[in-house]
Amino acid sequence: MIGFFDSGVGGLTVLKDVHKLLPDYSTMYLGDSARAPYGDKTHDQLTEFAWQGVKYLFDHGCPLVIVACNSASAQALRTIQQTKMQEYPKHRVLGVIRPTVEELGKLYNIVGILATQATVGSESYMREFKNVNQKIKVAQHACPKWGPLVEEGLAHTESTNKIVDEDLKVLLQDEPNVEAILLACTHYPVLYDYIRSILPKHIDLYEQGPLVATSLADYLGRHPEVEECLEKGGERKYFTTGDPEKAVRAAQQIAGLNPDFIQVELSKENS
Ligand code: DGL
Repeated sequence: MIGFFDSGVGGLTVLKDVHKLLPDYSTMYLGDSARAPYGDKTHDQLTEFAWQGVKYLFDHGCPLVIVACNSASAQALRTIQQTKMQEYPKHRVLGVIRPTVEELGKLYNIVGILATQATVGSESYMREFKNVNQKIKVAQHACPKWGPLVEEGLAHTESTNKIVDEDLKVLLQDEPNVEAILLACTHYPVLYDYIRSILPKHIDLYEQGPLVATSLADYLGRHPEVEECLEKGGERKYFTTGDPEKAVRAAQQIAGLNPDFIQVELSKENS
């Protein structure tokens, strides 16, 4: 199975595009909604939480795990890859930042990033974009309220729209010549339609799901040793550390999915 880990329900926005592009691969989703949001957590907390989640997925039949969370990818992925993988020499863990940057870095010279405080503070996007395109200018703005609003199922309300208006205004004031804006948090695509409706037409708007799905397909083509370990029965499993009923409602709202969520606990014993 391919494992997907997020702080909560946001990673489903990536999973739905993977299901569209790679429908035969069996998948297992784990959202740590009990400890969401991740956007206000420290490097050490995110490393501990993300490793617990990744390890859980490894131990439940996923040789490949996608950390479908920018905050965890930005703060914890490198530490996990460098210090935690000795026990799992054949397993692989990938994030969502590099595939996004590799695509957008080729297309634009001025990019705006909307993300959590953990992602913005890590400066990962700045660094990764520069590796792809030295000329690129990256404007970042943290939107700490968006993730929790989406997690609570409050994305489509007047008060959320007002918050989105304000945050977008700050980014556009900071960088009026922005060519494209990336929703660099997997919870934010739920707000895509509203943001598109208020964003000037000449500014392109990106969510990560399609970019991550395409990059995953490419990765599997280049890594037959990983690909051949993956089950292809199209089975889907969903786990949450939070309230399963809430997760089901969110899955319907976010991805048009109607899954059964099983509640699990992540703790120090998992790490
Ligand atoms: N979905 C997560 C991300 O991509 C974080 C949202 C949160 O829990 O703060 O960063």
